[in-house]
Amino acid sequence: MENIEIITTKDGSIGLYNKELDEIYHSRQGAKTEAFEKFIEPCLILDKKPLKILDICYGIGYNTKCAIENFNSIELIDCVEIDLELAKKSFEFEYQSTKNINQIIEKNLKNPDFIHFYFDDIRKVIKNLDKTYDIIFHDGFAPHKQAELWSEELISEIIKKLDKNGIYCTYNHSKPVLNALFKTKINIGKNIKENRLIGTIASFNSNLIQNPLNNFEIGMLKTKSAITYKDKNLNSNHKEIVNLRENEIKNSTLETLSHYLKKN
Ligand SMILES: C[S@@+](CC[C@H](N)C(=O)[O-])C[C@H]1O[C@@H](n2cnc3c(N)ncnc32)[C@H](O)[C@@H]1O
Repeated sequence: MENIEIITTKDGSIGLYNKELDEIYHSRQGAKTEAFEKFIEPCLILDKKPLKILDICYGIGYNTKCAIENFNSIELIDCVEIDLELAKKSFEFEYQSTKNINQIIEKNLKNPDFIHFYFDDIRKVIKNLDKTYDIIFHDGFAPHKQAELWSEELISEIIKKLDKNGIYCTYNHSKPVLNALFKTKINIGKNIKENRLIGTIASFNSNLIQNPLNNFEIGMLKTKSAITYKDKNLNSNHKEIVNLRENEIKNSTLETLSHYLKKN
C-alpha cells in the first residue's frame, strides 16, 4: 500500500494512483462513473436472470460494487486480484450508494457467500475456474505497463470462460487487444458513449453487440500495429513480452497501419 496514493476523481469518488508503475487504477474523470459506463452499462441487457460474473483485476472492487448496485440479481461473482492487501481493504474505500455495498463486500471477504476471491495472478487462476460466466470484466493496467494482462494466450483463456450468451467487457480498445479477441472468433463491438469510444465488448451472440467493428476496423487488425502480445506459457514478464512483440513487428511483412490508412 505504500506505493499507492488516494486521489479524488472528478465525480467525487475515490481513485487510486500507483506511484511505482506511474499508473492510475481508475479514470480521473470518475472512478464510479467509469465502472458504470465501461463495465455495467454494456451488460444491462443481460439483467434478466441471476448473473454469474467474473471480475478480473478486482483492485478495490468498483466494478463488483457497481454490479451489485445496478443488477437486479447476481448468482455469484468471482473476483481475481494479485494484490491481496489492497483487495482486503476494498470495503474501507467509500462507495456512495443507497445499498450498503461495502458491508456486503466485508462480509463476503470474511465469509464468502456469493462473492469469491482468488488472490493470485489471473494467469494462474484462469484455467482452474470451473464454470462459464454471463459477464466478464477485464480491467488490468494498460498494456504498456502490464503486457502480461493482455496477451493473446490469456485473452483466449478468458474467452473460454464466457457463456455463449455472455458479454466480455474492457476499457481497452487497443489494436493488439482487439486482434487477440478477433483470433478467438468472438464478435467484437465498440462501447461508445456520447460519440466517444470508451471500451470494447465482445460476445459469441452477435445480437448482444450494438456497434460491431466494421470492415475497415477489422482490416486494421491485419496490420503490424495489431500484432498481439504473446505469452506462450502464461509466465513471461512484461519486458519479455514487449521485446518479443517489438521483434515480431520488426520482422513482420504485414502492412503498416499508416499505409493501410492512406490506401483506404
Ligand atoms: C486498473 S487496476 C483495477 C481497478 C479495479 N477494477 C477497481 O475497481 O478498483 C488493475 C488491477 O490489476 C491488479 N493486477 C495486476 N496484475 C495482476 C495479475 N497478474 N493478476 C491479477 N490481478 C492483477 C492490480 O493489483 C490492480 O489492482
